[in-house]
Amino acid sequence: MALIDARGIPADQTSVDRLAAEGLDYRVVDTEDSARLTAFQRAMARGFLGGDPTEAVLAEGAPTVRSRRGIGVYERGADSGALPVATIDSWVTPLTIPGGEIDMWAISGVTVAGTHRRRGIARSLLEGELRAAADSGVAVAGLTVSEATIYGRYGFGAAVPVSHFTVDVRRAGWAGPVPPGRVEYVERERLAEELSAVHERARTTRAGQVPGWAARWAGLGGLASNESDRDKVRGVRYLDAEGEVRGVLSFALSERGDSFRFSLHVRLLVGETPEAVAALWRFAVQHDLVDEVTADLRPVDDPLPWLVTDPRGVVQVVHDHGWLRILDLPTALMARRYSAPIDTILRVEDALGFTAGTWRLRVDEAGAATVEAGEEGSEPDITFDVSALSALYVGGVRAAALHGASRIDASPASVVALDRAFAAFPAPSLDIWY
Ligand SMILES: CC(C)(COP(=O)(O)OP(=O)(O)OC[C@H]1O[C@@H](n2cnc3c(N)ncnc32)[C@H](O)[C@@H]1OP(=O)(O)O)[C@@H](O)C(=O)NCCC(=O)NCCS
Repeated sequence: MALIDARGIPADQTSVDRLAAEGLDYRVVDTEDSARLTAFQRAMARGFLGGDPTEAVLAEGAPTVRSRRGIGVYERGADSGALPVATIDSWVTPLTIPGGEIDMWAISGVTVAGTHRRRGIARSLLEGELRAAADSGVAVAGLTVSEATIYGRYGFGAAVPVSHFTVDVRRAGWAGPVPPGRVEYVERERLAEELSAVHERARTTRAGQVPGWAARWAGLGGLASNESDRDKVRGVRYLDAEGEVRGVLSFALSERGDSFRFSLHVRLLVGETPEAVAALWRFAVQHDLVDEVTADLRPVDDPLPWLVTDPRGVVQVVHDHGWLRILDLPTALMARRYSAPIDTILRVEDALGFTAGTWRLRVDEAGAATVEAGEEGSEPDITFDVSALSALYVGGVRAAALHGASRIDASPASVVALDRAFAAFPAPSLDIWY
């Protein structure tokens, strides 16, 4: 099914009216107008505390901004070159879910100028995006976040935890297989292409993943002008015994003091087969002159601790990364497959109203769901906020953890049933920022 082009969707009228009352003009940015495009890009760079973008950086970023629905908030009467005081951008993209994909309203670039903070502008931006998404029939919204405390209030849940690894390679050693294929270097000019191609095939095998885009691959492959250390980026790929490319690793080495000993930082390791993942980990942790390997945004069930001789040489820290927000509950819940049958009544609280109500969720033996509005007055088995349901949605968060934190109100038996139904294999993951 063709994805909706978010650029054609008008600015949300409720947010237009709310911000107009503050003397602010909230609108979809005409990114074909180069003065407005540049102002939008500069505002976003300032909002994320970056330097003022050079001509080269603006030119590299332009296709991405143009491919999205940019919203700017302007002081009323500001001329076309004026920087917006707030920005947000969005696009509709596939999200891998257990058993398939669903269209997701991806949100990025949320900034409010330091001069305009804590006046409710971010709230208007976020609520405006969620209404625009729901009005256009998109059942789920998603984002990756700079701070984990901002988005729960809008109904987002931290649905896709990931791992950060720090490996003391001398202690860790190697106990994994020696894969039958070969690892070879890839020139930086080709690395982005290789990352993109393998990621595009691998992303459908784990819930939580979304596709990248050209500038994301260029950045991870060391071609972005706004990165002063880009020359340090190197890449290798893994070809299986038949000579097919099955995995790609982008990494950077940095010297530790003047010791001629190095840290190897994994920028992206993507493999379509366990063999490819193991081969690329082996390349990293067995690299000569390297004492330490670091990597972030790895799956929580990454095999790394099991590939080494001493798992205590691998420090794994799990943290939030992918945040999701269900907007259309029946569509979202019926789109995925489940791991066990369940027949339960959910009561969902949703301050923004999208999913509020009582719902009957039934999953059959084959893992397919039906959802109906609950009958008037029916007693729920499970009561939770949409942020908790959204955290559970792709099966990367255990119901037991949310229940233990009082985020789910249910009997122990209902929690077990919910947990068994929603848990996904393999563990959901998300290996890029968006
Ligand atoms: C985060 C940011 C967008 C917030 O903008 P803002 O207009 O000041 O936020 P609002 O006034 O609309 O606040 C909305 C709510 O979020 C809360 N909030 C805002 N910023 C917050 C933060 N950094 N941490 C925790 N809560 C925050 C407010 O307290 C308010 O809560 P309430 O509605 O429950 O009372 C802004 O500080 C910013 O641009 N930061 C730098 C860029 C960034 O981190 N962007 C987020 C990218 S994921």
